[in-house]
Amino acid sequence: MRFAKLLGGLLALAVLAIPVAAQQEYPMSTIAPASDFAEGIHSVYVQIFWWAMGILTVCWVVLAYILIRFRERPDSPRPKQIHGDARLEIAWTVVPALIVVAIAIPTIQTVFQTQRAHPDAFVVDVIGHQYWWEFRYPQHGDVVTANELRLPVNQPVSLRIWSNDVIHSFWIPLLGGKRDANPLRAVPEGKDTHYSWIHMTPSETGYFLGQCAEFCGESHSRMMMSVVVETEEEFEAWLDDWRAGHAVPGTQTAQAEVAPMQAAGFAAMPVGSAQETAAPAPPTDPRLLEGYNLFVGQCVACHGIPGDPNAMASVAPDLTLLGRRERIGAGMLENTPENLVRWIRDPRSIKPGVLMPGVDYEGGRAPIVWPAFPYSDEQIESIALYLTSLR
Ligand code: CUA
Repeated sequence: MRFAKLLGGLLALAVLAIPVAAQQEYPMSTIAPASDFAEGIHSVYVQIFWWAMGILTVCWVVLAYILIRFRERPDSPRPKQIHGDARLEIAWTVVPALIVVAIAIPTIQTVFQTQRAHPDAFVVDVIGHQYWWEFRYPQHGDVVTANELRLPVNQPVSLRIWSNDVIHSFWIPLLGGKRDANPLRAVPEGKDTHYSWIHMTPSETGYFLGQCAEFCGESHSRMMMSVVVETEEEFEAWLDDWRAGHAVPGTQTAQAEVAPMQAAGFAAMPVGSAQETAAPAPPTDPRLLEGYNLFVGQCVACHGIPGDPNAMASVAPDLTLLGRRERIGAGMLENTPENLVRWIRDPRSIKPGVLMPGVDYEGGRAPIVWPAFPYSDEQIESIALYLTSLR
């Protein structure tokens, strides 16, 4: 009964696979949909799964029957020898073709459904960089953030995706399919056909992890992102806090030193409606003020905190409300002051190829080289505390 053992073994494997496939602890599972887009893909998956299970069952039953019914016995006669059977051959060509058609119908329907923008959707620009993600909200007064996208639940959104350098791919498995982020310079003048779009409506609040899904360089695997789906009120409150310049404990009295990169002709780009944002009061804590002044002395050459006239750059991730983000380094580390210190001191040990300089090495990429970060451990700690305070 070797066959029975084999069959038993296969069945046991199939049963064991079920709990492994269950979701929950797998934050990048594709089988726990949290948007209409992901639900569409998942329902196709489920349909195909049951089709496959049905076919598997038929095959196994027929196989088991044949193996038992026609097994060799000591007195078995020699089986009838045949060659070719037109009816059988037609059947095993037509039946699989019909199965493929049956699978194609829901698949194609879903492809078209997920390409359609909702008429009430708002747009978020998703821009890939080596190795982080930028998110801009053009319909919300040019609000901009990095690596952690915030979306209101049950509100349709259209993500307009492109890249600032090489091809990346935006993929939040629980919220839908992946889309390439293509470099914009490849787009012919006057056309925007090379944008990729994800149209979806998140259906659950939560924290959803994603991953760059197109090889884009040495830290491709470390280019993560997340989406915080929150209630409408929470989302509006976040927008308000962002706009209020709430993030900036600094003052306009603290004039920025000319950062080395700007001195080297690297222009800091102003961002959106920053000018309209009121400058908030200085921090009462002298340590935070020290951190802020150090931040303004170096980091603002690349990083921006729109609303703060001293921090208007936008070549590196925007740091507004950084203290609220769950993770730093595009998903690499939990957002704690200790990890911020690690990151500021030696970012390349966490993410090879990152453009940010460390304490012991310069940053950038030829021809623009950015000097090593000249601060002491204690100074870096002050900067980390200041950044954590941006809540
Ligand atoms: Cu970006 Cu892979």
